[in-house]
Amino acid sequence: MKTKGALLWEPGTNSGWSVEEIEIDPPQRREVMVKLAASGVCHSDHHLDDGVIPLPWAPVLGGHEGAGVVTEVGPEVHDLEVGDHVVLSFLPSCGKCRMCVSGRSNMCELGAGVLAGYAPDGTHRVHARDADGNGKGVGCMSFLGTFAPYVCAPVDAVVKIDEDIPLDKAALIGCGVPTGWGSSVYAADMQLGDTVVVVGIGGVGINAVQGARHKGARNIIAIDPVPFKQEQAQEFGATHAVSNYEEAAKLVEQLTNGQGADRVVVTVGVAYGNLLNPAQEMTRRGGVIVLTSAAPILQRDVEFDLFTFAMSGKRLQGSLYGTTQSRNDIPLLTDLYRTGQLKLDELITRTYALEDINQAFADMQKGLNLRGVIVYED
Ligand SMILES: NC(=O)c1ccc[n+]([C@@H]2O[C@H](COP(=O)([O-])OP(=O)(O)OC[C@H]3O[C@@H](n4cnc5c(N)ncnc54)[C@H](O)[C@@H]3O)[C@@H](O)[C@H]2O)c1
Ligand SMILES: [Zn+2]
Ligand SMILES: [Zn+2]
Repeated sequence: MKTKGALLWEPGTNSGWSVEEIEIDPPQRREVMVKLAASGVCHSDHHLDDGVIPLPWAPVLGGHEGAGVVTEVGPEVHDLEVGDHVVLSFLPSCGKCRMCVSGRSNMCELGAGVLAGYAPDGTHRVHARDADGNGKGVGCMSFLGTFAPYVCAPVDAVVKIDEDIPLDKAALIGCGVPTGWGSSVYAADMQLGDTVVVVGIGGVGINAVQGARHKGARNIIAIDPVPFKQEQAQEFGATHAVSNYEEAAKLVEQLTNGQGADRVVVTVGVAYGNLLNPAQEMTRRGGVIVLTSAAPILQRDVEFDLFTFAMSGKRLQGSLYGTTQSRNDIPLLTDLYRTGQLKLDELITRTYALEDINQAFADMQKGLNLRGVIVYED
């Protein structure tokens, strides 16, 4: 089918997204076509443009946070039908590999290939023409490419949800919501009564605040330099909001009688090497620091006080997809939304047409949005 999509022809050069005609093939074996209602605008897509996540291939169709309705099923699809409402998971889960069967489906072997530049079977489903009119296979972010009104998706990345959940809100459950919420609930394993700090209140960090509230944290301190983010953090359950580490450290000291925070979750836009040590300094003995943010892939220099880290028994925990299990947690998060225990509507600060995608990323960079969302009209 011919449609439109937002492509990067020169990833890593800050050239911005080009909305142009693309062609999407019909679904092949174990794939479905999904007509999207909306796509979230996640910082990870921007990392393809700014080079924090370098890609050795092009062009790429961006977007990995979407939800919609199945319009076509390929061969050997047994558990999805035309008309099903689905969330697209930014990491697939095959259900069969060692990671999947041992309860770590966020680290499914298939997920290792999401930046390979082609579908799991090694071929392209999306095609575009370069400036000289030559046809090119287009790689899709996360095997998806939700910056287009239709996605041909592998079934392993498609999770059925109930039809009463509004799809434009459900889109955010494809990445930002589970990543942030799970960073608190699972990766940090927060406990009732904890004092926690969330560093960086974007589409991911605001959901880490929601997760902390869920686990019954006593004090939730949000750090973000943008005043709007500080206000929003408090709307979502933060007990305190400040603009930098120094202010947070003072608060933590007062609130814990100098013992330190039980958990610190880092969800800033880019994890530079100087961000972790201040997080460790405000963490109590035996406490946990969770790193969710993407870092420049080639960065190797990280300032870190290893002596204190070892001798005070702290833990540094990486968090991929919030350590959530898509087939369990996506339906769970929709249930929590339905029962009023998880905010989704309020996460969407602004909506955009696909043609305005560069504005959406500019607004994200300025800190104007918790989440910007591309909405697809019928
Ligand atoms: N681990 C995963 O599975 C996973 C999944 C999705 C996104 N991510 C990553 O998570 C990060 C956050 O994504 P997002 O979409 O929420 O980004 P975002 O741009 O919406 O939010 C980032 C926030 O961090 C704030 N910030 C920047 N520097 C700061 C600092 N020094 N101290 C405090 N706050 C600071 C910004 O003001 C902004 O509000 C990105 O690096 C993204 O690539 C990781
Ligand atoms: Zn994302
Ligand atoms: Zn697997």
